[in-house]
Amino acid sequence: MAHALEAINVSKEYSTVAGKVTVLKELNFHADANEFISFVGPSGCGKSTLFNIITGLLAPDNGHILINDKETTGSASEKMGYVLQKDLLFPWRTVIQNVILGLEIRGVNKKEARERAKELLETYHMQGYEDKYPAQLSGGMKQRVALMRTMITNPEIILMDEAYKALDYPLKISLESELLNVVKQQKKTVIFITHDIEEAVTLSDRVYVMKARPGEIIHEINVDLETDSRIIPERRLSPRFNDYYELIWRSIGAAPVLF
Ligand SMILES: Nc1ncnc2c1ncn2[C@@H]1O[C@H](COP(=O)(O)OP(=O)(O)O)[C@@H](O)[C@H]1O
Ligand SMILES: [Mg+2]
Repeated sequence: MAHALEAINVSKEYSTVAGKVTVLKELNFHADANEFISFVGPSGCGKSTLFNIITGLLAPDNGHILINDKETTGSASEKMGYVLQKDLLFPWRTVIQNVILGLEIRGVNKKEARERAKELLETYHMQGYEDKYPAQLSGGMKQRVALMRTMITNPEIILMDEAYKALDYPLKISLESELLNVVKQQKKTVIFITHDIEEAVTLSDRVYVMKARPGEIIHEINVDLETDSRIIPERRLSPRFNDYYELIWRSIGAAPVLF
């Protein structure tokens, strides 16, 4: 069967004042349909560069990205949706106006778009917030609106770059539980980028571990926490959690640590 997404020999260099720097070196990886994969690695190992290459915002120097076995043309694929750490909501738009943005761009009529957005707002327990502005929301609510804005266009693949980095722990685990529930229920493929080992282990079916300078995949780990729970603390309490944590920590620890 075709992979939902596949990268073949992807490399990237940046030109700096000090000369050329290899940021990503010959990355090969894939994500299957309905699979939740993570990339975990230290700051500066090239995760956001990789994100930009997968989305088509940045062209690799070598290699290519295939979606359902077809090479992407460089522009962002219709099949993908993104959630970033900075939620990037438009401050001058209300919650509902932010949520319908992707549908507006696709030319869906406003009435239909608003109806779909209202359903989503209910699903995410944010009914009543339709006409609030981002500045009136908590950090967690903003991130939830950003996820709704992505989900409303019904992407097959969801890409997330350090989406929950700036949140406090209780909020983070609640949003992550919600995410896991939604993507498993709706059978999405997720590519989750993080520097947080715990986050990668609790959420993922499979983890790619990266090292820095140059950014390379040094380990691929299938994760099975032997639980069907989608509640993050319950997954975290799986007796197998520590084994995976240790495995990843040791493989990252073997690489140079950047401070
Ligand atoms: N446009 C650029 N030009 C030159 N160097 C860059 C550029 N963007 C990122 N870098 C460098 O490439 C490396 C990887 O960056 P990045 O992909 O943001 O890593 P991560 O997201 O893992 O922290 C870093 O050393 C960063 O300083
Ligand atoms: Mg980054």
